[in-house]
Amino acid sequence: MVDTAQLLKVCRRAAQAGCRVVRDWQGKARVWDKRPADLVTQADLASQLEIESIVLGEYPEHDFLGEESGKSGIDLSPGKICWIVDPIDGTTNYVHGLPGYAVSVAVAEGEQVLAGNVLDAMSCEDFWAVRDGGAFLGETKLAGSQVTSLERALVAVSLPPRVDRDSLELRRLIEVLMAAQAIRRLGSAALNLAYVAAGRLDAYFATAVKPWDIAAGVLLVEEAGGVVWNIDGGPFSLARPLLVAAANAQLARELVETLQKA
Ligand code: IPD
Ligand code: CA
Ligand code: CA
Repeated sequence: MVDTAQLLKVCRRAAQAGCRVVRDWQGKARVWDKRPADLVTQADLASQLEIESIVLGEYPEHDFLGEESGKSGIDLSPGKICWIVDPIDGTTNYVHGLPGYAVSVAVAEGEQVLAGNVLDAMSCEDFWAVRDGGAFLGETKLAGSQVTSLERALVAVSLPPRVDRDSLELRRLIEVLMAAQAIRRLGSAALNLAYVAAGRLDAYFATAVKPWDIAAGVLLVEEAGGVVWNIDGGPFSLARPLLVAAANAQLARELVETLQKA
């Protein structure tokens, strides 16, 4: 039997440690391209090392999937515990000194995220959640917004670093742009989900994100009373995250229908 409270404690300690590393490297870290327009820095690597050493120091028997470990697959067999970590989500913002980058640490048992922490490394806003125990910003319990229609909704989107002019991604973006009150591309999938949980955004969608971008954020949204679905309206899967997240099912349904027009 896993002790979820203990997992949460380690999750938050590891995220805080990663965040300190990210802040220490600010303005000094060497930057290079993993792929065109997909940046990584010394701070990403150092933050992941710090988080990994804390997590595996406590739980050497658990799996660890970090963005910078070079593994792409994730073993979500029932009963398997895996830590899913993005050492900096929003690296482009970090490199430019623009607000909107965070450390994201989650721990999942099979497909189910048990605890997660999205820690904004500039503002230090600390979003955390534990399965069946709620979502919080610091000590404040979170609940999503009351908005139920797209025309009243502020919606965020994540696009891949390089997107083709004729892509389905851009067609989807245009459909939502036409239907929503306004749309934002903030540059951090993890923070987008945290903001849906906090009611700052009403909805979010993404088709090219990876488990480490969204694992902690998905739990934040669900624990704040929101919904996370596959982009076609089916059940969400951590292994293949094409997702819509929204404050409530009514808004999620309208977003799915709008995306299907593309
Ligand atoms: C990126 C951010 C961005 C999303 C990209 C991700 P990174 O993560 O989450 O919002 O659009 O697809 O790769 O590279 O900054 O960790
Ligand atoms: Ca990321
Ligand atoms: Ca990253």
